[in-house]
Amino acid sequence: VLSRAGAEDICTVGNEGLECTQQTSKLLIQGGTVVNADYQQQADVYIEDGVVKLVAPNLKAVGGVRIIDATGKFVMPGGIDPHTHMEMPFMGQESIDDFFSGQGAALAGGTTMHIDFALPVDGDLAAGYQAWEKKAEKSCMDYGFHMAVTKWNDDVAKDMEWLVKEKGINSFKFFMAYKGALMVTDEELIQGFKKCKELGALPQVHAENGDGVVEGQTRMIELGITGPEGHPLSRPPVLEGEATARAIRLAKFVNTPLYVVHVMSIDALDEVSRARHSGQRVIGEPVASGLALDDSKLWDPDFKIAAQYVMSPPIRAAGHSQALQAALSSGVLQLVATDHCPFNSTQKALGKYDFRKIPNGVNGVEERMHIVWDTMVNSGKISVMDYVRVTSTACAKIFNIYPRKGAILPGSDADIIILNPNATTTISSKTHHSRIDTNIYEGWSMKGNIETTISQGNVVWEKGNLNVQRGKGRYIAMKPFGYLFDGLDKVDAAYLTSLKAPVHRAS
Ligand code: URP
Ligand code: ZN
Ligand code: ZN
Ligand code: ZN
Repeated sequence: VLSRAGAEDICTVGNEGLECTQQTSKLLIQGGTVVNADYQQQADVYIEDGVVKLVAPNLKAVGGVRIIDATGKFVMPGGIDPHTHMEMPFMGQESIDDFFSGQGAALAGGTTMHIDFALPVDGDLAAGYQAWEKKAEKSCMDYGFHMAVTKWNDDVAKDMEWLVKEKGINSFKFFMAYKGALMVTDEELIQGFKKCKELGALPQVHAENGDGVVEGQTRMIELGITGPEGHPLSRPPVLEGEATARAIRLAKFVNTPLYVVHVMSIDALDEVSRARHSGQRVIGEPVASGLALDDSKLWDPDFKIAAQYVMSPPIRAAGHSQALQAALSSGVLQLVATDHCPFNSTQKALGKYDFRKIPNGVNGVEERMHIVWDTMVNSGKISVMDYVRVTSTACAKIFNIYPRKGAILPGSDADIIILNPNATTTISSKTHHSRIDTNIYEGWSMKGNIETTISQGNVVWEKGNLNVQRGKGRYIAMKPFGYLFDGLDKVDAAYLTSLKAPVHRAS
């Protein structure tokens, strides 16, 4: 069906018009610039049965192959969002996007896979996994899970082992904030880190000092500050910096790699930077909102506007986002997530008279790819190849699913986007696909538009139309002992050798 240019095969032009409106398992993307994280070229991409078969210049197709013209456009791996919360019970509410609506939004914005945070049910990880498995049955795109650890005992340790060995989970999140709900103590953190290391699973932290947050909240309420601006004021960057430093040092003590989710401040960034420069394996994840916005809207007199920006750690004062952008471009931070956790305005209104009751979370799964394009590529801060790296490839490598995901290579899943750098995009709650009734990027206009999204080899987004199928999404199992674990045993062995024989022995 396919041959290199120069051969006698010709496109079945007569069928093209018809085939363009149909789903076919064979696609040929012609004439674009194919961008991977480490190489870009003028090439065509041939896809069959959901998998990339060939990437080479001047491919020609014959019958039954749908041709997509990508002339003047970038053909890139679909985005992978490493941090979402679909239909998550949180602060007495449930985030408003379920796996179907959230993934539809993601696909419309060029993201073809996400990793969602499963939460234990009453502290039980196995029950949490089963609950998330059920929620995700309605999926229309590929997904994976991280699992949160919210307490420590033998059952938790056993369940972690089961999740890693039987269920394809290779990362566990520890909350250092949300006291009385999800927060863990240092003791639990250390035990959890040790277990993660043993299993080859990556520990992740939400790094804010939870005791400090409670104190900060009390301080604001005593001062009579009850509105949304009390949220950032009650949990300042110093609390994020402290927890980030503590988690990093405990990870060093255990000798495990560490992944810091939603790095929002210079304070946290500086800790990640220091650790990385000392040779420690720390991954720092900024989120779209932190990269692109500042906290000014939290002072908007209209509660509905201000409340939609409430997330934790908070969106910071002007200056922090520029530092995060610089850190992303220089490699101090490695990949961009969203922390997509949308609550609509009626849910946010529960905290109208007390910011502590505003459910924490913002939208982003649909906007991330465009926001990163605009803030990082349009501004000249990163190359298009680095764009692919921070939106897709780095995530696939860290979570050990590369090159099935995160690349356009023969054998990779055909999760692909086509971005037209000359078209424009304007973000609005009136046109987005998430269920949330507001959008923190409302009115954001930019050059660059993801015109086409291909998921599992099917065109699911084109010309502004979303064509998704419930139940089509696949659970992507992720194997333990990714590259971040290579060589840890050697460091451990050197440590043991360095210990002198005990001078005093019990006799
Ligand atoms: O405000 C946020 N970030 N909500 C989601 C839960 C979390 O901390 O990631
Ligand atoms: Zn259990
Ligand atoms: Zn968090
Ligand atoms: Zn989160």
